[in-house]
Amino acid sequence: MTVQTKRVSDPATLAAEFAKEFADWSARQTHDKISIALSGGSTPKILFKLWAEQYADVIEWSRLHFYWGDERCVPPGDPESNYGVAKKLLFDKVPVPPENIHRVLGEADPQEERSRYEDEIRSVVALRANGLPQFDLMLLGMGDDGHTASIFPHQRELLTSNEICEVAQHPVSGQTRITLTGPVIKAAKKTVFLVTGAGKKSVLADVIHHKGEFESYPASYIDEGDVTFYVDDAAGELL
Ligand code: 6PG
Repeated sequence: MTVQTKRVSDPATLAAEFAKEFADWSARQTHDKISIALSGGSTPKILFKLWAEQYADVIEWSRLHFYWGDERCVPPGDPESNYGVAKKLLFDKVPVPPENIHRVLGEADPQEERSRYEDEIRSVVALRANGLPQFDLMLLGMGDDGHTASIFPHQRELLTSNEICEVAQHPVSGQTRITLTGPVIKAAKKTVFLVTGAGKKSVLADVIHHKGEFESYPASYIDEGDVTFYVDDAAGELL
């Protein structure tokens, strides 16, 4: 299965293109409790701001349930918190019922939270026949080292973990994180990567074309089913 690529000029246009597709996609879903796993980092911030500014009254937010593909093990008020960023830029501005927001408790003990989050996902997200939770939409980013969620090149075993989520470490800062595992990410009905910036162009080309060092890049393994990379011109220059 080859992944799809949509290339647009710049990050703002990328967010606008995806936001429109997302609004159409969510309206077409015939079930409620539409499960969406958000990515962290900086790229989604543009999308969160756009959702808040232009889609607060357009999307049926009460049908959406939000989770995180990964979270830093910090308190929600910490600037590093993926939930904290989404709350400030999005959830404080659109009518998502609080019970629809399934955050990772970054302030908790990582191993205990890993288990708790796994149980929460299992209790709410539809399970496939093989017992894996199947998110309706998996929103991912990609680091310039080819990581996605918090599956980094030095911990590629998380791509084949039997767990729903695992405790991970950032390779440079050592920051502890909780991440969905490869099988759960790959089980999603629809997967979208949002990738911007020239710093990622070489790795992105290897990831998408499965060439060069692609086997060391976790993002390369997310290549089954409905996978679309939204990239800006800077990140997509070598595609
Ligand atoms: C995180 C993310 C991570 C992110 C990439 C890209 O918690 O950091 O989930 O996987 O998507 O690092 O981050 P940028 O969008 O900031 O480049």
